[in-house]
Amino acid sequence: MNQETSQGKWSAVDAYFVDRLLPADSVLDEALASSERAGMPAHAVAPNQGKLLQLLVQMANAKRVLELGTLGGYSTIWLARGVGAAGSVVTVEANPVHAEVARRNFTHAGLSGRIDLRLGQGVAVLEGLLAEGTEPFDFIFIDADKPNNPAYLELSLKLSRPGTVIVGDNVVRDGAVANSASTDANVLGVQRFFDLIAANPRLSATAIQTVGSKGYDGFLLARVLE
Ligand code: DHB
Ligand code: MG
Repeated sequence: MNQETSQGKWSAVDAYFVDRLLPADSVLDEALASSERAGMPAHAVAPNQGKLLQLLVQMANAKRVLELGTLGGYSTIWLARGVGAAGSVVTVEANPVHAEVARRNFTHAGLSGRIDLRLGQGVAVLEGLLAEGTEPFDFIFIDADKPNNPAYLELSLKLSRPGTVIVGDNVVRDGAVANSASTDANVLGVQRFFDLIAANPRLSATAIQTVGSKGYDGFLLARVLE
């Protein structure tokens, strides 16, 4: 069966999972609706993926989370729920319109107090965090512009401690990640990301392919070693 034929089944199964496992949530619905109204690309994680992020944060007992790529703040809300009232999320967004929508969603979610949205280019913001001498993060979600994934990884490692969990979104690129002849800047960014992870003895990593309401994609999962 080809991918187009399979999409209906993937979406139906995601709907089944969400219906069974995720309560209706008007805050998250509004985060998606406001993002759509603002004309953002429909690049937010799926609801069951958002819950996966929350669970991963909780399983790692992470209290300090860094997110690259806020968009409308949908995944940020899941991450902020994961850290709990004593935790915090720094989320980085380059687009001021996206950032404004996200801020409203954080207020509406009652989570502004634990979310620090930094408006700016990811590399510059991370360099700023390093210059501030910020405490290392426990969990880092890389979900921004893919050509910068290599730079985000290098800077994330400087903002990590042994045990820090790093998750990367969208690492499949419709299968092109495995195409060594690709000239697509997004694909090249993800491939270089994998090369850096593979070559780094400080990282233990895996990646998984996913299907679902967001189509065919996947996550990179890594842990910083001692
Ligand atoms: C793309 C980026 C994302 O963060 C995402 O979740 C889906 C797609 C993209 O750039 O194509
Ligand atoms: Mg993404």
